[in-house]
Amino acid sequence: MDGRPHDHNYKGKVCVTGAAGFLASWLIKRLLLSGYHVIGTVRDPGDDNKVGHLWKLEGARERLHIVKADLMVDGSFDAPIMGCHGVFHTASPVAILRPAVDGTLNVLRSCKKNPCLRRVVLTSSSSTVRARDDFEPGMLLDESCWSSEELCERLKVWYALSKTQAERAAWKFCEENNIDLVTLLPSFVVGPSLSPALSSTVSDVLGLLRGEKDKFEFYGRMGFVHIDDVALSHILLYENEDAKGRHLCSSTVLDNDELVAILSARYPALPIPKRFEKLDRAHYDFDVSKLKGLGMKFRSIEEMFDDCVQSLKEQGHLSLITSTDH
Ligand SMILES: NC(=O)c1ccc[n+]([C@@H]2O[C@H](COP(=O)([O-])OP(=O)(O)OC[C@H]3O[C@@H](n4cnc5c(N)ncnc54)[C@H](OP(=O)(O)O)[C@@H]3O)[C@@H](O)[C@H]2O)c1
Repeated sequence: MDGRPHDHNYKGKVCVTGAAGFLASWLIKRLLLSGYHVIGTVRDPGDDNKVGHLWKLEGARERLHIVKADLMVDGSFDAPIMGCHGVFHTASPVAILRPAVDGTLNVLRSCKKNPCLRRVVLTSSSSTVRARDDFEPGMLLDESCWSSEELCERLKVWYALSKTQAERAAWKFCEENNIDLVTLLPSFVVGPSLSPALSSTVSDVLGLLRGEKDKFEFYGRMGFVHIDDVALSHILLYENEDAKGRHLCSSTVLDNDELVAILSARYPALPIPKRFEKLDRAHYDFDVSKLKGLGMKFRSIEEMFDDCVQSLKEQGHLSLITSTDH
């Protein structure tokens, strides 16, 4: 396959925003393997430390273009998005709240100008669903649930607030402008990082494996999902005509105590914390039947952590681990 439009395997041209990120890198890997032509946006295409890993992906030399775009610059995405059939908006600004909403609307305004556009897949988050104070015991949260903005403000959980506001703004804009939008709501993403630079999620996992408690103490109960399943779910939502609305994307929900019990039994040489202080956190699960109904199968908690630990070892972050570990 040479990746040109006359090629019978050609799947069309798509844009991925924030291409060098943890999640976007895996999405691009999967899109290239599926035969797509990918326009990836980053803020600095010349920074080889950030984008070098993308050029090593299979098909990258033939079908990947990396271009500059910034969420905070109006019209910055016009050129990258023009002519694309699909847009995967994964980029997320470091400064949150207004920038998250403004950045998303900036991308969507560029989508509106593109007559070739078929569908936009927005990477939202399960935090747009689970920040609530009306839990009943054992509550099953599905896509009809929205996090309480008032609660997020009161508890100062700015990430959940910004993702909730950004997703709500995206739905409003796309409904008003007749853009076909689907959203994916991953829980905490675990797995190998293609980039040598550690994203904040991977750093949190590395911290836990090295014995740090702070982050997971605060997280309490949380859903987990394999990075490759998140990448595949994005493509499933783009390709499947039946996909409509929001889609929770999560394998297993665990209390932090349950998580460390599994991990310390599996990796006995790692100084994983044994237990956490019991916080008064609600017990909930995610109903992921919508994504499963489209054919998605999720890897287990063991598989996602095995793959993550393996990659952290290969990258030299867990170099002191003995060979008796998985
Ligand atoms: N990781 C998780 O557990 C998780 C779970 C649920 C949802 N999500 C969502 O998934 C998406 C990706 O997350 P991630 O974990 O892959 O994070 P990440 O590795 O930090 O990637 C985020 C990307 O956003 C880009 N970005 C930041 N500010 C930008 C700006 N002003 N203009 C353009 N691009 C900008 C960065 O690109 P450059 O610095 O290269 O420009 C970066 O590569 C986010 O929307 C996040 O909310 C993540």
